[in-house]
Amino acid sequence: MAETPIISIRNLTKVYRLGEVEVPALRGVDLDIYRGEFIAIMGPSGSGKSTLMNLIGCMDVPTSGEYYLDGVDVRRLSKNDLARIRNKKIGFVFQAFNLLARATVLENVELPLIYADGIPGRERRARALRALELVGLADRAHFYPTQLSGGQQQRVAIARAIVNDPVVILADEPTGNLDTRTSVEIMGVFQDLNERGITIVLVTHELDIAQFAMRVVEMRDGQIHRIRPVENRRRAELGVGY
Ligand SMILES: Nc1ncnc2c1ncn2[C@@H]1O[C@H](COP(=O)(O)OP(=O)(O)OP(=O)(O)O)[C@@H](O)[C@H]1O
Ligand SMILES: [Mg+2]
Repeated sequence: MAETPIISIRNLTKVYRLGEVEVPALRGVDLDIYRGEFIAIMGPSGSGKSTLMNLIGCMDVPTSGEYYLDGVDVRRLSKNDLARIRNKKIGFVFQAFNLLARATVLENVELPLIYADGIPGRERRARALRALELVGLADRAHFYPTQLSGGQQQRVAIARAIVNDPVVILADEPTGNLDTRTSVEIMGVFQDLNERGITIVLVTHELDIAQFAMRVVEMRDGQIHRIRPVENRRRAELGVGY
């Protein structure tokens, strides 16, 4: 591809230091991810998947190596700049949803826009509602998270992740707390957003879930073992009531 990748990683390493002990979590990772891709990262527990996601998401800094995010050399950024680029360019989705229980669905989705500041309240609400529409939950805007099913809560988290128009959504085991049927529904939401042009990188332990992606990155022992295209990609139909 002649196009520039939105994520470009070269020889990335991460060593965690616990007192005297050094844990090499990433040992030389090369990876390019292009706009509009849908990537699944797989691999055994401890192989470095979350560490890689944290580095891609600018939640942590590498020990060595290069990382360009949307053309920006992340190594050169200060802590403040890292926080800014994270808020602007990355949408996160977690296994545990991580919604604020005391805030409504709409308020939860508005949060990243409040941190971004300078956006008037009326526009924040309009954008949050639009994001909720994209995940099929506009009619739950004034509910509280505890009044929703697990799958609905994860859809709210996805709406929150896209409200800022990020260049990439990072999802670490987003279906880890969901049953099979609901997991497929969530993958349908990701596929739909991906078809609208949003780049997605998702960690999963389940081969069935990885089959919804376009490419699978297999990690082993802090390195990329192989990258393969998904054959017979699964398609999730968004069901009735969605
Ligand atoms: N904050 C930390 N401090 C020290 N070591 C860490 C830290 N986070 C991860 N590690 C170590 O780095 C290695 C990779 O961990 P990581 O969480 O990236 O694995 P993972 O592939 O996401 O595993 P899982 O599938 O269980 O989530 C492991 O050996 C782990 O113990
Ligand atoms: Mg992990």
